[in-house]
Amino acid sequence: MAATSPAAANAAGASVYNTNCASCHQATGEGVAGAFPPLAGNPTVTGNATKVIHIVKYGLKGAITVKGKSYNGMMPPWGSTLSNADIAAVISYVRSSWGNAASPVTVADVKAVAK
Ligand code: HEC
Repeated sequence: MAATSPAAANAAGASVYNTNCASCHQATGEGVAGAFPPLAGNPTVTGNATKVIHIVKYGLKGAITVKGKSYNGMMPPWGSTLSNADIAAVISYVRSSWGNAASPVTVADVKAVAK
């Protein structure tokens, strides 16, 4: 794959985020307490990349606790509506925005995570 500059990858990720994720997790990444967990300052988001890819690709439901607040909702799977490239871009964006500082993920990383 041709190398994409970090700035270009970030702009693509921001666009995917604002179109598909911000309605719940908010443009600020702060979420909505009790309904949609924050992605900003969330150790799951900046932690194990495989886990984050699995959540975004295949969805998540069940009780979780984020920054001291409980959530028990349902996140739709994105693997059927977004391309692996869009998923890689948006995950790289959320891992490096709002004070988060974790490594980006590649298209190959996204492709490799199976249900
Ligand atoms: C319809 C609302 C909605 C949209 C849109 C949405 N999410 Fe979520 N997301 C949720 C909910 C609700 C949860 C928590 C699920 C639970 O309680 O088990 C969640 C959880 C997550 C988590 C796991 C957080 C944790 O601490 O475990 C990540 C990462 C995430 N979302 C990223 C995204 C990304 C990236 C997008 C856009 C591609 C997105 N979400 C779009 C509702 C949404």
